[in-house]
Amino acid sequence: MRPKIIAGNWKMNLSEKEALALANGLREKLPAILKDKRALVFPSTVHLASVAKVLEGSGIDVGAQNIYPASLTAMTGETSPDHLKEFGIKFALVGHSERRQFLGETNSFCNQKVRYLAENDFTVIYCVGETLSEREAGRTFEVLGAQIREGLGNISSGLFSKIWVAYEPVWAIGTGKVATPAQAQEAHSFLRKEIAALFQSGADVAASLPILYGGSVKPDNVKELLSQPDIDGGLVGGASQKLESYLGLF
Ligand code: 13P
Repeated sequence: MRPKIIAGNWKMNLSEKEALALANGLREKLPAILKDKRALVFPSTVHLASVAKVLEGSGIDVGAQNIYPASLTAMTGETSPDHLKEFGIKFALVGHSERRQFLGETNSFCNQKVRYLAENDFTVIYCVGETLSEREAGRTFEVLGAQIREGLGNISSGLFSKIWVAYEPVWAIGTGKVATPAQAQEAHSFLRKEIAALFQSGADVAASLPILYGGSVKPDNVKELLSQPDIDGGLVGGASQKLESYLGLF
């Protein structure tokens, strides 16, 4: 059975003081209500070391919002997985729509990242999702299909235990406009089929791969979303950035 997962993407929203206060609050309050769910947080890169220290041994995992796919090398301004391993970081987001939209990240660069990070023992959450104009033009499944085939193509099935997917429709991110559970379920089930079609015996891989939903997940809609058969958790922005609403997601 796939676990239920709540992952908080803190984006670039919190100061160090706020990130540490939130991490301390989660350490104090979350383990008691975690039950059979898994919790993760993705602080900004500069807070990773200090947040990881606060959450060490708490059962709450810490991941990076962005990692460059190379060992220590000449690449100004980027962060290597080798840096983050030193702090016990083992999770990474790849292909978040904000990086695709505003920083030009392509499916093929995401593919490079997914492969390198999974080979280096990181668990990757590969993010996909259509824009509003793509949905309105009836291109949702075409876009999602290409994101899966190009972003996850040519990766050996052995690495798929290190890969999760997040479906984040761009029109639902930070807008308060959440996909209906039926819309999200339809997309998740499509994504699972696309993943299964990537290679021989892909059905087993796809059946065990967690797919999270992201886009205006809040304490009052999380339960219904997570009750859908192909929705294994939430990748949550705004509601994960305040202690009370993060706790309300469990
Ligand atoms: P919101 O939950 O703020 O819509 O953000 C979703 C998101 O982008 C998570 O990665």
